[in-house]
Amino acid sequence: MTTETPLTKHINLAQPLAMADYVDVGGYQSVKKAVLQMSASEVMAVVKDSGLKGRGGAGFPTAMKWSFVPDFEPQDPRYSEDKYLICNADEMEPGTFKDRWLLEGVPHQLIESMIIASYAIGANKAFIFLRGEYHLAARRLQTAIDEAYAHGYLGSNIQQSDYQLDLYLHTSAGRYICGEETALINALEGQRANPRAKPPFPQVSGLFGKPTIVNNVETLSNLPHIINQGPSWFKALSNNQDAGTKIYGASGRVQRPGLWELPMGITVRELLFKHAGGMQPGLNLKGFLPGGASTDFLTADHLDLVMGYDEVSQAGSRLGTGGIIVLDDHNCPVGMVLNLLKFFAQESCGFCTPCRDGTAWVVETLTRIEQGQGTKQDLDSLHKLCDFMWLGKTHCALAPGAVEPLQSALKYFHDDFEQHIDKHCCPYHGHH
Ligand code: NAI
Repeated sequence: MTTETPLTKHINLAQPLAMADYVDVGGYQSVKKAVLQMSASEVMAVVKDSGLKGRGGAGFPTAMKWSFVPDFEPQDPRYSEDKYLICNADEMEPGTFKDRWLLEGVPHQLIESMIIASYAIGANKAFIFLRGEYHLAARRLQTAIDEAYAHGYLGSNIQQSDYQLDLYLHTSAGRYICGEETALINALEGQRANPRAKPPFPQVSGLFGKPTIVNNVETLSNLPHIINQGPSWFKALSNNQDAGTKIYGASGRVQRPGLWELPMGITVRELLFKHAGGMQPGLNLKGFLPGGASTDFLTADHLDLVMGYDEVSQAGSRLGTGGIIVLDDHNCPVGMVLNLLKFFAQESCGFCTPCRDGTAWVVETLTRIEQGQGTKQDLDSLHKLCDFMWLGKTHCALAPGAVEPLQSALKYFHDDFEQHIDKHCCPYHGHH
């Protein structure tokens, strides 16, 4: 058990550390160590040993993702072609605001991290794909990028090595699907941001058809600390088999909504009742989404669940982004799911029928039920729609993500759906 908070200890939201101050607290040391003393494959090996997994939501092992970038022989014409690193900073999952903290509070840490990742995969160009609404982060990142160029951490011959990296900030035009890595790549190329079919995965054929790694802000931000302090230190930070810390969050009617960097693998109870201060007076916990809107509901029976990748999956949901959204017993679950599904319906790119039509039908059906005009047949339709929109039947993960809160609400809060139908009103509001 640790109280270390490597990712957030230098956060200052009022005024993030400028270059000189950031260097004073040990900033950019990892870059010097990596580019001057380590080979790219040594950096990759350290990250592999650390056990770092992707913090964007899917938990894919970071070094394994990197290892899919092809290693061409010098005589291969593709040897000298570009490879790219993209930082996915298009944080738009409802209930998720962890990356914003890092972006606004310690922008130099992300730049330092991106130099490490780019060096490891052999990229000379890197991009930050930033959520359009994150205006403050955009200004602070650009200031930090300019400072990094001025101090020889970006550009050619970084810290007198022969390594070169150019880093560009790109702000999104503002759709949720732009955060899906292949849609993001299309957006960056100036195309309509529909997701691409996978495979090929971006690691092999990504931006402009070249090998591309897309990593989340929080994932990348771990790298300087792993390089400086080593894999064993990193593993020891966590409470479970997932290494490191996690920036967990809580929203909904808890006493203290917010964000906390905590050992990976703490329990839901600790997060909600110790850090978030428990429920607001007069309210009880009815359910929660463990990691953003596209995860399955769990209930008060899951308070001792460990917030790790495998543990939450085994409980029937996903860790996702680790940003818990709480449902209390005075809040209508049908209304909450309707609210979420309206978001997904609006954000569907419209490319495939199950998503375009499915999310719209779900919204129409849920609206009817929530207004007390639903029938038992509507419940059957919702179950069928969940199946129609599931993985393997859609072009990307948006519709299956939308199904997660819906199918689990139908399971855990079935009585609430029935009551809306039987009483012809929303029992939480009492109106007809
Ligand atoms: P995914 O599991 O398909 O992929 C995750 C990463 O692993 C990708 O980079 C992918 O290229 C790589 N990968 C997976 N399988 C691979 C294979 N066989 N070979 C090579 N590489 C492979 O998940 P996806 O669709 O990228 O992301 C879904 C997650 O994103 C969900 O867990 C959701 O919670 C989260 N999410 C987060 C948001 C945010 O704002 N942070 C917004 C929306 C969703």
